[in-house]
Amino acid sequence: MAVKVQLSWFTLVAIFMVFSVGLFVGGAHSSYIRPPPREDLFISKSDDDDSSSPQQVHISLVGQDKMRISWITNDTPSPATVKYGTSPGVYSDSANGTVSSYRYLLYKSGDIHDVVIGPLKPNTVYYYICGGPDTAHELSFKTPPVQLPIKFAVTGDLGQTGWTDSTLQHVAKSNYDVLLLPGDLSYADVNQDLWDSFGRLVEPLASQRPWMVTQGNHEVEKLPIVHREPFTAYNARWRMSFEESGSGSNLYYSFDVAGVHVVMLGSYTDFDENSDQYKWLEADLKKVDRGRTPWIVVLIHAPWYNSNTAHQGESESVDMKAAMEGLLYQARVDVVFAGHVHAYERFTRVYNDKADNCGPVHITIGDGGNREGLASKYIDPKPEISLFREASFGHGELEVVNATHAQWTWHRNDDDNAVESDSIWLTSLSSTPACL
Ligand SMILES: *[C@@H]1O[C@H](CO)[C@@H](O)[C@H](O)[C@H]1NC(C)=O
Ligand SMILES: *[C@@H]1O[C@H](CO)[C@@H](O)[C@H](O)[C@H]1NC(C)=O
Ligand SMILES: [Fe+2]
Repeated sequence: MAVKVQLSWFTLVAIFMVFSVGLFVGGAHSSYIRPPPREDLFISKSDDDDSSSPQQVHISLVGQDKMRISWITNDTPSPATVKYGTSPGVYSDSANGTVSSYRYLLYKSGDIHDVVIGPLKPNTVYYYICGGPDTAHELSFKTPPVQLPIKFAVTGDLGQTGWTDSTLQHVAKSNYDVLLLPGDLSYADVNQDLWDSFGRLVEPLASQRPWMVTQGNHEVEKLPIVHREPFTAYNARWRMSFEESGSGSNLYYSFDVAGVHVVMLGSYTDFDENSDQYKWLEADLKKVDRGRTPWIVVLIHAPWYNSNTAHQGESESVDMKAAMEGLLYQARVDVVFAGHVHAYERFTRVYNDKADNCGPVHITIGDGGNREGLASKYIDPKPEISLFREASFGHGELEVVNATHAQWTWHRNDDDNAVESDSIWLTSLSSTPACL
């Protein structure tokens, strides 16, 4: 037995050395074989937190000048109150909200607190405390700017592994204003404790900047007979401000921020032409004033364009594209971000499977770092409309500079270093005369 253990350690070291040498010799990364997936981290509650200490704090935009603050406490009831102000330790304002919880099989969630605060000033740091007067753990966030420029961080299929942690560190350094997540958050996959762990993992970032999310297949968590309701944990824990955009569902909504209209679509709810989502999307896109929001960005989970062998032919990709691509095209949407495929891929402007100067750029950014690992097989030859594809972990940054120009960069998570690996300038279709 002891010999076997020694041998396997030896083998591991040997593999590691061969691998490192391979990377070194590989140099330019032209055919960079990514390392394997990493295990789930499990972030436990901190020992010095009592049961009424706020945990899993995250924030999201509500309308133009408000913020939703969400957090969870265990066991001991504590008020849904947020005190906040623009100087540390001085809380000039306060607001009350709601407390809820949910059950999933034998699991009962802690108290989920949800408080909307504001009106808030743009581009301003606020200091805040969650809960009752005795919980003095101060947090802070920065509101986004009211005008361009603005920087979005974009990362999908995040999960909660060592790779996720590393990607989050890169995102934290990016000086972003708002994070956009095209689905697949915790990979809890019915183990509800993993939702709590995910909440703790992302809190340092998600309590400081708004995290705007939409759902992926891993959020559904529907089981035959024993738990028939879909999205129970997701809707309870990651409530977004859908009502502000006239949507009747947390699974799709839109918001305006600093000259950008962001549309979050739901790949795992009805999307056909008679569906509520379709009617809502049609009405939502009609209302967009490109003078006020020159940019339109859409997020979905399952990509409509994808030359990876993973997730080909799924209804959420094929049928949703067939139903909704025309609406996005007519509205002159600038960019569509998707997740689901655990890799990075950027297409040219495209509509109806063909390059089209008035169609959106489609980008798959499902490479946040979850435990399932990378999707590394591609369809050959590469379709002409696919301009860049690579199976590596990483994150993206969309810096919308002004009404006409935005820069997109993809940062590969290169053995825990962020390396800028793809970069393009986009021109808004609202300023492209041929498309008006
Ligand atoms: C919040 O609720 C507490 C307790 O009911 C109350 O004393 C306080 O005035 C409320 N604050 C606001 C801003 O409504
Ligand atoms: C918008 O930004 C681009 C890129 O920085 C710059 O070339 C262009 O002049 C800017 N347009 C205006 C109107 O400032
Ligand atoms: Fe997915």
